[in-house]
Amino acid sequence: MEGFAGKVAVVTGAGSGIGQALAIELARSGAQLAISDVNTEGLAATEERLKAIGAPVKTDRLDVTEREAFQVYADAVKEHFGKVNQIYNNAGIAFAGDVEVSQFKDIERVMDVDFWGVVNGTKVFLPYLIESGDGHVINISSVFGLFSVPGQAAYNAAKFAVRGFTEALRQEMVLAGHPVKVTTVHPGGIKTGIARNMTAAEGLDTTELAQTFDKKLASTSPQKAARVILDGVHKNKARVLIGTDAKVLDLIVRATGSGYQRLFGPALSRFMPGAH
Ligand SMILES: NC(=O)c1ccc[n+]([C@@H]2O[C@H](COP(=O)([O-])OP(=O)(O)OC[C@H]3O[C@@H](n4cnc5c(N)ncnc54)[C@H](O)[C@@H]3O)[C@@H](O)[C@H]2O)c1
Repeated sequence: MEGFAGKVAVVTGAGSGIGQALAIELARSGAQLAISDVNTEGLAATEERLKAIGAPVKTDRLDVTEREAFQVYADAVKEHFGKVNQIYNNAGIAFAGDVEVSQFKDIERVMDVDFWGVVNGTKVFLPYLIESGDGHVINISSVFGLFSVPGQAAYNAAKFAVRGFTEALRQEMVLAGHPVKVTTVHPGGIKTGIARNMTAAEGLDTTELAQTFDKKLASTSPQKAARVILDGVHKNKARVLIGTDAKVLDLIVRATGSGYQRLFGPALSRFMPGAH
């Protein structure tokens, strides 16, 4: 992939799935990598792959919800490489459960990781991205940041929030004349561990939900997802949709307005038994 040689790229949640694939694809494209995750085992595996490619890599355990640690980390990445060009705020978790039966702590946890993790990463790295003269913020939302489905209110809320935050940031950077591009990414179903790592409201069988996701909803490989993201970054796209599912669902939502809600709930209940 063109346009990444010599760039310093930060990837959160790089120990698995899309984050791991992004780090590998960036390394192959000549980028220098700062990778982090709470999953240190997966992170070590990613580091090994990057070293085999020959990419300079800085590896750290980082919980994206820990704001002070994130600031210390951003300073250390800048110190280590001398500059920072790109941050991929990718770390995320999934949770299933109707609002009626979800605990406040479950909803807060999803917002902490999936929304505040993105805000933390954006804020602590923004001064360095501006300083680089060639910065890019890439925030991973979801198709669930384009429309809502039953059983996913917490995740929907976090991913809609990521979209709102990121779209505003893109306009701010343009108005301020800052050299920072901004991209929101909306993956459809990607074959990663996200559903297997999912938590759920009491009484829901996450094994069954994960099997359904893996068999019926996840259609794109993480490698393909990473390539689509990097292509969008290279082209400075405001919005990147990943997968035919994401593109079709986006069209339906745009064509029907709020009318999609009458279609998606019953349709998804066939695929997500017990999710509502
Ligand atoms: N897989 C999909 O179908 C899909 C669809 C839409 C959006 N997404 C989004 O893509 C991103 C990557 O997910 P994935 O599918 O690769 O899942 P994944 O579970 O394979 O990878 C997510 C990584 O984030 C890490 N993580 C979780 N909480 C963390 C925290 N507090 N601090 C740091 N790291 C943390 C996990 O340890 C894991 O390595 C997420 O934001 C997810 O919401 C995924």
